[in-house]
Parts: sequence; C-alpha cells; structure tokens
Amino acid sequence: MRYQGREVGAEGRVRLVMESALTARDRVGVQDFVLLENYTSEAAFIENLRRRFRENLIYTYIGSVLVSVNPYKELEIYSKQHMGRYRGVSFYEIAPHIYALSDNTYRAMRTERKDQCILISGESGAGKTEASKKILLYYTVTCPANEHMASLGDCLLQSNPVLEAFGNAKTLRNDNSSRFGKYMDVQFDFKGAPVGGHILNYLLEKSRVVHQNHGERNFHIFYQLLDGGEDELLKTLDLERNPQNYQYLVKGNCPRVSSINDKNGWKAVRKALPIIGFSDGEVQELLNIVASILHLGNIQFGEGQDGETHITTETQIRNLTKLLGVDDLTLREALTNKKLIAKGEEMISPLNFEQAGSARDALAKAVYDRTFTWLVEKINRSLALKDEVYHSSKGSSVIGLLDIYGFEVLQHNSFEQFCINYCNEKLQQLFIELTLRSEQEEYETEGIMWETVKYFDNKIICDLIEEKHKGIISILNEECLRPGEACDVSFLEKLEDSLGGHAHFVTHKLANGKTRRVMSREEFRLLHYAGEVNYNVSGFLDKNNDLLNRTLKEVMCQSDNQILSNCFRREEVIDQKRPEMAATQFKNSLNKLMEILMSKEPSYVRCIKPNDAKQPGRFEEVLVRHQVKYLGLMENLRVRRAGFAYRRRYEAFLQRYKPLCPETWPNWHGRLVDGVSMLVQHLDYKPEEYKLGRSKIFIRFPKTLFATEDALEAKKPEIVLTLQTAWRGYREWAKYQHIRRAVIVIQSAWRGTKARRRAKRRRQAAELIRRFIKGFIHRHEDYSSENDYFLDHVRFSFLMKLRKNLPKSVLDKGWPTPPPSLIEASDHLRRLHMQNIVLKYCRSILPEWKKQLEQKVVASEIFKEQKDSYPRSVAKLFLGSRLESEQINLKVIQTLGNDKVQYGVLVTKYDRRGFKARPRQLLLTGSFAILVDKTKIKQRIDYNALRDISVSSLSDGMFVLHVHNEDNKQKWDAVLHCDHVIEAVTKLAMMSGRVNHVNISQGSIRFAVSRGKEGIVDFIRGSELKVAKGRKGHLLVTAPGLGDT
Ligand SMILES: Nc1ncnc2c1ncn2[C@@H]1O[C@H](COP(=O)(O)OP(=O)(O)OP(=O)(O)O)[C@@H](O)[C@H]1O
Ligand SMILES: [Mg+2]
Repeated sequence: MRYQGREVGAEGRVRLVMESALTARDRVGVQDFVLLENYTSEAAFIENLRRRFRENLIYTYIGSVLVSVNPYKELEIYSKQHMGRYRGVSFYEIAPHIYALSDNTYRAMRTERKDQCILISGESGAGKTEASKKILLYYTVTCPANEHMASLGDCLLQSNPVLEAFGNAKTLRNDNSSRFGKYMDVQFDFKGAPVGGHILNYLLEKSRVVHQNHGERNFHIFYQLLDGGEDELLKTLDLERNPQNYQYLVKGNCPRVSSINDKNGWKAVRKALPIIGFSDGEVQELLNIVASILHLGNIQFGEGQDGETHITTETQIRNLTKLLGVDDLTLREALTNKKLIAKGEEMISPLNFEQAGSARDALAKAVYDRTFTWLVEKINRSLALKDEVYHSSKGSSVIGLLDIYGFEVLQHNSFEQFCINYCNEKLQQLFIELTLRSEQEEYETEGIMWETVKYFDNKIICDLIEEKHKGIISILNEECLRPGEACDVSFLEKLEDSLGGHAHFVTHKLANGKTRRVMSREEFRLLHYAGEVNYNVSGFLDKNNDLLNRTLKEVMCQSDNQILSNCFRREEVIDQKRPEMAATQFKNSLNKLMEILMSKEPSYVRCIKPNDAKQPGRFEEVLVRHQVKYLGLMENLRVRRAGFAYRRRYEAFLQRYKPLCPETWPNWHGRLVDGVSMLVQHLDYKPEEYKLGRSKIFIRFPKTLFATEDALEAKKPEIVLTLQTAWRGYREWAKYQHIRRAVIVIQSAWRGTKARRRAKRRRQAAELIRRFIKGFIHRHEDYSSENDYFLDHVRFSFLMKLRKNLPKSVLDKGWPTPPPSLIEASDHLRRLHMQNIVLKYCRSILPEWKKQLEQKVVASEIFKEQKDSYPRSVAKLFLGSRLESEQINLKVIQTLGNDKVQYGVLVTKYDRRGFKARPRQLLLTGSFAILVDKTKIKQRIDYNALRDISVSSLSDGMFVLHVHNEDNKQKWDAVLHCDHVIEAVTKLAMMSGRVNHVNISQGSIRFAVSRGKEGIVDFIRGSELKVAKGRKGHLLVTAPGLGDT
C-alpha cells in the first residue's frame, strides 16, 4: 500500500502521487516518529528505527528533522530517478529521504527568499560526510545551471575528493573520518541556479600528521601519493613507494587497509585538482609540501658530547631543503636552535634533543595545517562568485551545509577531543534553541496555547567550557601565559581550584570512589550532554600554545614555494604580538559559525551509526540507544509532540480529507477554517483532540489522524468511482462540445460558401442577361463587343441544337434552320454530314450487298425513267440466281465444263418465226449465255457475239438479244420474255460488258430473224400483259401502264 498511483507531471518527470505516508505504518513502523503512539518510550523509538533499518529504510523523520541510520552498504535509492521523484514534492507525501530534505530546503530558500542551512550531526562514522555529499549532488544535478557558471557544479563536487584526501584519515571508527570541520555555503541566483560556494574549515586534527594511534592512519594524501604517484613523480620528490619507510606513517602500524583504495583516491585527486583551478605548477608545489613532510618526519637528531643537538640524516635534510625551497644552512640552524628575545636583544639558544624533535614535529604540523587552510582558500577562489555573476545575481540566497566532527569519546582523549566535544555542545545548544524556538514560535503565530516541555539545556556545559575568566578555556589560556613553571598538571590543579563542585566537572581528586577507579590522576571528566568524557591533560598546554618557534617561521617565510610563502607571512614574524591561543581561536570561530547558522533557517540531519564494526545489517541496540540519547532525539520528539503530534495547513488538510464530509466534498467554497471546522465536526473530533490555529490545524494524538486516514482509505473506492464518473462525464461532454463546435464551424463555413457561390452566380447571371439583351438589340450590327455574346450564343445554340438533331440517314431531310450568320457554314456542314453518312454507310456495306448495289446502280443507269416496270423492281432484291443448281440439268453442266453457271432464270423464248412460245432456261456463265431446253443447249451466245440488248419502255418482260451473225455461225437474235427482266438484263449486260448497249425502245423492237430478214415486236399499253401475234406478222405485246399495277 505504500506508493501506488503515478502521474506524469507537466515537466514529464515521474512524480509519485500523494499516497499516505501514514498507511505504511503497519508494515515498517512509522515514517515520522511524531506519529509514534508511545512517543515517550525510548524502546518504541529504537524498535521503530530497527524495523525500518531491517527493511533498508534508513531515513525517518521527527517532524522536519531527518534521522539517518548508516546502512554501511550501497542502497539503490540515490539514482537520478530518485532525485526526480523528490523534486517539488511535498515533504510528507513521500518516503523520508535526504533528497526530500534537500528539496524542501531548496524550495524554502526559493519561495521564502531566506537563507537556509542543513546541519548534519552524528558521531564519527555515522554518515555525515556521505549525507552532505548526497545533498550537494542533489543540488548540482537537479538545480538549473547558470550560463556563466556551468562548471560550478563540477567544482563543488570535485572539491570533495581533494579536501577528503588532505583532511580525512582512517580512524578506528571510520575509514574515511573527516579530521576537520567543514561548513560550506552554496549560493544560488534568483533563478535557483548555483552560482558560488564558500567553505569554512575548522580545526584540522594536525597532531595526526606526526602521530597516529594504533590502527589508524595519517591523512589519506600521503598514502595516495606513495601508492598512486607515477614513478617519475616519486623520483622528483625523492620518495620511495613503501610507506613503512616514513616515520610519520608508521605510528599507527596500518599503512594499507583493504577497504581503502589509495590508487583510486590518487586518481580522483589528480583529476579533481585541475577542475578546481590548480595549475600544473601549483600541483607540483602542493606535492612538494606533502613530500617534504614525509622527509621531515625522517629527520633524526644526534646529541653531541656537550649536549648540543645535530642532524644525523643528511639525505633527508637535503631533500627537505630542496622540496621546501629554503636555504639548507638556515633550515639546519632553525631545526636545532631557537631565537629568544630577552630584554630587546636577540639570542640564539640551542635546542636539546627532545626540543629539536618537538620543533621538527611542530614544523610538520604547522606546514600541513597551513597548507590545508591555503587549499581551502584556493578552492574558495574557484567557487567564488565571479564578478559578472555577482552583478547579475543580486538577491541570491544561500544554503549552508555543516558537516562537522561528531561527539568523540576515545580511550585517550586529548585537547582535540575537548575541542570537538565542545563544538558538539555548541551545536546541541543551537539545535535545542532553534527547534524549541521554532516550535514555540509556530504555536505563538498560530495562537495556540501549549505547555513548556522539560529538556536538558546544555548551556551550563557550554558555560563551563567557554565562560570568560571562569571557563576551562580561559583557565587554560591563563596557564599558558602565566610566567613561571606552568605545566599540564598545574593546569589541572587550577581547574580543580576554580571548577571544583561544578555539577559537570570531576577530577580524580574531586571524584567519589567509584569514579576514581576509572580515572587517572592526569584526567578531568566533563559530563557532556552526550555522556561523560575523561580528558587527559597532557599536551593541553602545548597544543593550546601551538607555538612554532620563530626561527622556523622565518625559514618558511623565505621559501621559494609560493604556497608556503603564502602560508608563512613575513608580518607574522615581525609582529611581536602573541597570536591567539588555539582554544580561543577555535572558540571564536565556533561563535562565528553559530552566528552564521543562527541567521539561517535550519534543517537537521541526525546521523546514527548502527554498529562499530562498519558492517551492513547489524543494529546494535546499546550503541543506537546511546546516540539517540545524546542526539537528544527523544527530547526532540517530546517537544514536537508536547503540543500536537501533527499539524497541517488548512488547505492541505482540507484537500486531503474533504471527501470524508458531504459539505466539503467535492469542493468547499467558504473560508478554509470553516471548511476544516465543518470537516472535523463531521469526523466527530473531540475538542481536546485538536486545535484550530490561524492557518493550521493541530491534531494532538496520532490515533486521531490514523482514524481519519483509515476513514479516507475506506472512502477511496467511492471517491475513485465518483471521480471516474465525473471524469468520464466530463470527457464525453468535452468531446460533445468539441464536436458541436466543429459542426457549427463547418456549417457556417459551408453556408457562407454556398451563399457566396449563389451570389456570384446571380451576379454572373444578371451580367449575362444584360449582355444577352444588349446583344439582341444590336444583333443586326457587325460583330462587336456589344453583340458578340449574343451572336456567339446564337451560333453556339444552333450548333448545339444541330448536334442533337443531325439527320440519321440520307433520306432524312430535316436540318435545323441556321441563324443568318451561319447559313453558309450550315450548308457546308450539311454537305459534309451527308458525305459522312454516305461514307460511313459505304464502309459498313457487306460484299454481297455491294454487289447487289452495283447491280442496282447499273439497273438504275439503264432503266431509270426508261422502263415502266423499273420503279417496281427497285425495291426487289436481285438474287444470285433464280434457279437452284439441281434445276439445271447435269448434262448441261458437264457440257459447260469449266464455265460455271453464274446466273440462271426461267424465260420464255418466242420463235423468230411464228413466235411460238417455248419455256427455256437462260443460263449466264463467265463468257456466254445459253438457252437450255431441259437437257439440250438450244442456243449459245458468246458475249463477244452479243451486240445489243433491247427491251421495251413498258412494264412487260420482253427482251431481245441481238447477235452478231456475219459469219452465220450463230443462231440469230433471240426474243425472250422473263418475269425478272430488269434483273436478268442487268446481269447479262454487266457480265457481257454490254451495259451501254441496252436499248429501251418506245414502240417496237426490230430483230434479225435470218440474214436480211427482220422480225418486229410491237409494244402497246393495255390493261394487262399479253403476248400474241399481231398484225403484219409482228409480235404484239400489251403491257399495263405505270400506275396500273
Ligand atoms: N547513506 C549511506 N549509504 C551507504 N553507505 C554509507 C552511507 N552513509 C555512510 N556510509 C558509510 O559509512 C562510512 C562513514 O560515513 P561518513 O564518512 O559519512 O561518516 P562521518 O559521519 O562523516 O564520520 P566522521 O565524523 O568520522 O567524518 C562511509 O565511508 C560509508 O562507507
Ligand atoms: Mg565525515
């Protein structure tokens, strides 16, 4: 049930939708301790931490404070996607995370335009540095980039490996323990882009340079250089790869640790240096210093017979002077003597063996410490706001990140632990003051009554340490400055004198028997807010004095190395004033830090270390309980819960729970406070359970909220349904509206188009009519612009009409009447059309029909208007033959041989003499005509011998074939009668080539009977056809007139 719904925001980033952080409470405890029912129980608190830790949920809130338990393993919760998930999401809506805190701080800075700071606290190894790196990474990845400072993100991130190499070391508690305090400001422009940064460093544990406890190491950089440095580089630095060869690296007896990869560390540092603005020369100078410290550590002294000290290690001192860039002799002198100023005169006093060793170590510590400070300043110069950005980013805001050493209790606690724990007291003060104050302020601004919560105020311990004239630091300073034999023990005595009886201060002398047993005589015990710590006073004075003898300072001032000459200023040597004591310096810088932090809005990350073995998955209850106690988490929770466990702005509360009340669902339109009031009344909140402030509702018990949350959970299906219904309805309605709008648009566009078209057509029509009328008026004039349209139209209409009414055949005489201007054209067209019809007709004629027509044409040429029976014959088709082949005697056909009968017809032959009628067959072949009587060929007339053919002009069927008979070989002319005379004569004339030799006789036809003798056939009109002998031996043929039949 943890995070379910997902929604893609406008920027496309995936954003987890608010799903109750509270509903996850059953599975993995509560995400916010404030919601813990049994909030006063430390056991319940720790159990909640443990349950979540087991599920790898290392982050839990106490209100706005983030508690983080070091998982000691890589968790998959720091990816870019995770960053995206936390961007712009409200703090409580999503699982607790360092990114949520980072984002919340960033947004608070942007929206409230107020500087913020994130205070990360916890003991060594609890994960403070890791947390600060994650916060920085979050900002560099998710914030927009300023165009002038695009590389700033890199610079910010890359400053870490360098500072860690020089300022972190392996300790028993942490393989990468920060041995300095770090406060870093990241500056953002008004658009929210990081534009600058600044680092403040606090009290580097410089004693580590010369001494390490067993199992611990010097600062990483030494090992990184020896392990990772190229052969060539080591040669120039006169270094050997084995760390065992260097006195300053052997004290802890653990040069190599499996969990630390010095080679990679070296690579990271080398990569980072140029990015944060180091030139090659500067890198070389920096490494010269690192190497020189190793050589310095190897410098040994010998004691002469007179007790004077001299240097016994020649090579080392040579290497050293070369690397430090100082004069050999002067350095030798300075290491074995010191200058004293007595009564205004300078005196040189030799150092004894021990003093020389201390001077050497002091030099090493001073050089390293000052180089570290220089390094921080160098980084600050790269991170500083560039001028152009500075001017363009007025109104910028700052987020400060404090990663400072946690409360430390070691076997042997010295001055450093004293300072570190003092720092933690101060931070606890600040924490108490700010959390209480802000809590109190909130109740005040909201006008809510609340009771004060009792908590331990550690001011008393702070005062014990820092109070003027009375505090431990003052006493220490006094002891350092006091003339006479001041020593660590005398300091302890002074403490006992001044502070004896203080509730938080004990010494061996002041302690009761039980405590005495666990304390040595050189120790004093402070009862810190976080626990008791015994401090061994040995070294306190020296460390506080922090004196590097002047002679050595002078030497360093002369160094060729730019870094060193920057670190050791000539003014310092000239200035006779004593510098501030170390503890005072630290106190002052802490007070300055408090001022910085007080001016900002704080957020807290409280880191807890689950076990001492740096092991994942191990949760040591005793250890955790101790941290919970000294981090004041229970108090924090109590304060937070004293008033009300839960508070929410009205709009947020109403927004979330409004579905639970019909009056507020789906929307409340009145004042917010009335809406909330209505809602809680409906939910039946008892008056003691809640209070309404000015802008927030305060709920006293978690169970009230849980009940509300459960009600919401139960209501959700209903809400979902309502939302779905509303949404579907809305979607459909919107779709409908969309379509409707589209339809209206289309309709109006279409109507407009139609109307425009109609108007255009009307206009055109009117114009046309006007032209038409004008043309009509001027129609008789010459073609001009006045009448062109009319005339064209008339022509056009005629042609169109003609097109539709063209005659379909030659016989169709119809033709539309043309307008005057087209008469000639019309005639042409008519002719052309006729030709066209004829042409088409001719093209489509079949061969037999063509033959028929040819014969008909010939018949027409011969007989048209010549013979009465012609018109009647026109409509009758000419047949191929009037005799079937079987009607012709076979013998006749055989006799004809190759000459095929092409036409045969029955005729009546009249004897030339006496005119006896005899039936005969007239057969036409290719070259002659024959008259056949049944089987016998009676007469054969070669076409060559055929001279003429005669017919009458009447309607009879008589025809006479006139034969050339000069040689008397032929029979004489044949007088024949045929019912198909037109057909038979036409065919004969055509076949014999005698078309022009057909005579149409009007009255009578003469024919040759025999040589010199003629016969005559007379023709007269009568009522019916009759052939008979007439007068004078003529044959008389009576034929009906034209209109008679
Ligand atoms: N969120 C985390 N995820 C995974 N490992 C972590 C996380 N936080 C811390 N660690 C592990 O714990 C080790 C110690 O963390 P870190 O150096 O941040 O401690 P610290 O609180 O800064 O200690 P010191 O006070 O000594 O500097 C880291 O080197 C890392 O291995
Ligand atoms: Mg650290």
